[in-house]
Amino acid sequence: MDLRTQGLPVGGVASPRVLVAGKTVGYRVRDLATGEERPLCSVEPPGIPFRRFFFSPEGLASANAALARAVRTAEVIVADEVGPLELIGGGFTPGIRAALGSPAFLVFTVRPSLVDEVRAWASVAAPAIALDSPPGQPRGPDATRALFDRIAADHDRWTDGAGPLAGSRASLARAAALVRPQPGERLLDIGIGTGAFAAQVAQAGTEVWGVDPSPRMLARCRAAHPDYHLREGHFLQLPVPDAAFDIVVSSFAFHHLSPVEYDDAFREIGRVLSPGGQFLLLDIMFASEADREAARAALGELWDDEETYPLVPTVERAARQAGACDVVAHRVSELHWVVTGTKPRGRDQRTGGRPWAAGVVGGILPV
Ligand SMILES: C[S@@+](CC[C@H](N)C(=O)[O-])C[C@H]1O[C@@H](n2cnc3c(N)ncnc32)[C@H](O)[C@@H]1O
Repeated sequence: MDLRTQGLPVGGVASPRVLVAGKTVGYRVRDLATGEERPLCSVEPPGIPFRRFFFSPEGLASANAALARAVRTAEVIVADEVGPLELIGGGFTPGIRAALGSPAFLVFTVRPSLVDEVRAWASVAAPAIALDSPPGQPRGPDATRALFDRIAADHDRWTDGAGPLAGSRASLARAAALVRPQPGERLLDIGIGTGAFAAQVAQAGTEVWGVDPSPRMLARCRAAHPDYHLREGHFLQLPVPDAAFDIVVSSFAFHHLSPVEYDDAFREIGRVLSPGGQFLLLDIMFASEADREAARAALGELWDDEETYPLVPTVERAARQAGACDVVAHRVSELHWVVTGTKPRGRDQRTGGRPWAAGVVGGILPV
């Protein structure tokens, strides 16, 4: 809603994100009364370092000036993204302190994990309205495909960086040690990307298939692994035949689904697995909602609200619901878990696939 169109004088600041290749590289500050914008912070210096950003003194000064002016002129004052910097007395603090003393209607946007702290800091018992349902709203298939098409060339440099993917290379290696294809077996990797995980799982003689929605990720995979059978597609509609695979794996792709899609994704995995075949899903996951919220608070700006990092019990339940048996979760790093399971051979023999190599890797914690 544009409050100005409701006839209310609005002041204060919004903080639009600056995106490069789908990644947040900074924020700008917009004076809501004038529409003027300036840089607020950037991942690159110069500026005042705080967490992963460098803040522009001019940007902060103009934000505080906009807030101070709003105290004199506006009936509604907005401060967007009140957070860790304000909690230590920096950022928009002077402007917000002035606004708190005014009779105007105040609107602060705050990340869900910081709402209580910001309330205490501001000494207000204001109501909170959730604008986003935690743990975030996925981008959706079109935006996800566009994102990976844009970053395909740089993907392998970024995936081990800071944030929820930190340490993903080590996690790929630990997860790959959990599954050992036999000679001649057929492996499907969903969300294969550039092929980093499939290449670690595959043994000599493994026939590797890969599905991914991003044509550019597939092009890079094809260039690196010309022998792989690659198809454009996604978790919910795998363009491969029924019961064709001995092993289905996926790494760091499941979190692009929305939780309401988990059951359908596991039904598709069950469809394409042969009886006795096994799946392995590696991703950013959490044992509980409390763990997920703690990680979100600890990672701050590095958390991506457009991705839904699932809860381990939710993934296990979806797998069992789709008919999988021997479903087991293994923690492979602080934020990364693997869920494995088997497609039953038949009504009378629930299992019968090869045993998972669980426990062979030091540091893997069966749950
Ligand atoms: C972070 S990359 C991981 C790539 C690779 N598995 C790895 O570990 O290096 C995520 C991949 O998932 C793919 N992806 C996104 N949404 C997907 C979906 N709904 N179904 C299958 N793959 C998806 C992306 O295109 C991208 O290639």
